[in-house]
Amino acid sequence: MNDLEATDAKGYRLPREDGSVVSLIVMHKDDNIFVYENRCPHTGINREWQPNQFFDAGGRSLQCATHGALFRPEDGYCLHGPCTGDSLEPVSFRVVDSEILIEA
Ligand code: FES
Repeated sequence: MNDLEATDAKGYRLPREDGSVVSLIVMHKDDNIFVYENRCPHTGINREWQPNQFFDAGGRSLQCATHGALFRPEDGYCLHGPCTGDSLEPVSFRVVDSEILIEA
């Protein structure tokens, strides 16, 4: 978690037990941690502009790089764009000794 203090969000790719890889957004915002699958509900692709660039220009919403959908950071709800009303998939986690442990 300490490496999130200087930035709002980071992307991670983690292997699953079945051999597939899950792409995640881990976000530190207003002293809260949020973790979502890095998959836009519109087409299913990764959402960042470039590595670790998930926010819009104003830094208030998460933005999909492909068609510009805007998501509320606190719950992943799509506020604007082709998937309005859908949400990013939340990922279960817990924090132990300043480490984020993904439970998915
Ligand atoms: S792929 Fe994300 S808005 Fe279209």
